[in-house]
Amino acid sequence: MKTYKIAVIKGDGIGPEIVNAAIGVMDAAGEKFGMKFDYTDVLAGGCAIDAEGVPLPQKTVDICKDSDAVLLGAMGGPKWDNLPGDQRPEAGLLGIRKALGLYANLRPAMLFDELRDASPLKSEIIGDGLDVLVVRELTGDVYFGAKHREGDDAVWDEMKYTRPEIERIARTAFEAARKRSGKVTSVDKANVLEVSRFWRSIVHKVAEEYPDVELNDLYVDNAAMQLVINPQQFDTILTGNLFGDILSDEASMITGSIGMLPSASLGEGTLGMYEPIHGSAPDIAGTDKANPLATILSTAMLMRYSLGEEEAANAVEAAVQQVLKDGWRTADIASPGKTVIGCVEMGEKTAAALKA
Ligand code: IPM
Ligand code: MG
Repeated sequence: MKTYKIAVIKGDGIGPEIVNAAIGVMDAAGEKFGMKFDYTDVLAGGCAIDAEGVPLPQKTVDICKDSDAVLLGAMGGPKWDNLPGDQRPEAGLLGIRKALGLYANLRPAMLFDELRDASPLKSEIIGDGLDVLVVRELTGDVYFGAKHREGDDAVWDEMKYTRPEIERIARTAFEAARKRSGKVTSVDKANVLEVSRFWRSIVHKVAEEYPDVELNDLYVDNAAMQLVINPQQFDTILTGNLFGDILSDEASMITGSIGMLPSASLGEGTLGMYEPIHGSAPDIAGTDKANPLATILSTAMLMRYSLGEEEAANAVEAAVQQVLKDGWRTADIASPGKTVIGCVEMGEKTAAALKA
């Protein structure tokens, strides 16, 4: 039987609940498709600060590097909000992305037909559905530029991109678009930022290698607006780390719930990290109210991109669809007439649908 090594970072807040639910579904997929998962729990984020005094222990990095894939819940919470920037839980998240070289963040924002009512957009704007892939650069930009402080009077963060960083993420987007409807929208702020003018020129150069893919550019402010007035125009959105952070939250919300959307962070090899795009939701942690579906859908991406188990990945996605079709909802996606269940039960229903 194929055995895969999975490093598991449950993290903070609702992290442990949603990851436990997702592991139940992975095991169900393992049973059905002849795979065995060897899970190793590792610490990062707030729980690592509490246990080891740092947001990203070296042991965590080593175990993740030695795994086939990393499954992550969420990191952060008010408890650690007053720590200096480099000691906060978020530093653990950025640190692990960087340490594993995960420069390409894929964030698919898809509207499940069953959840049309949950979208805040009018039906005529949704049209026949929403299906956008945000390709966010993940290890550069102002997130990783040098930070400066001049006493109490001035502070600045450097926004920086190098040519190879832009070329490789552009290729990720063009390749992805090729498998979808063949359209890339590159988002920048080239009317103001030098970094964006550079970004745009390199993206256009890379585009010459992909004559079959259509490319257009949008300024980020316009892109934010277009996402809510005409989301149909988008297929693959290619953008930098900061704009991608913001636009992926927006793209997710128009599909109804941020609790539904998975993500994959990929590098050069097959090792990837998979996490829901939502945060640690400390307000509902421990109450069994969290929606585990984004994490469950992240395990489908894990099987597809890191393990090459396409059939199992499709089965996990189909199981989620089935559970929604059967009318089961967590509170965040509930609409009148549907049955609200908790995180544990949602995980169990999905595992059962997968085995059925
Ligand atoms: C995300 C999150 C992180 C980010 C935070 C928690 C550092 O918002 O994954 O989108 O900004 O990348
Ligand atoms: Mg974010």
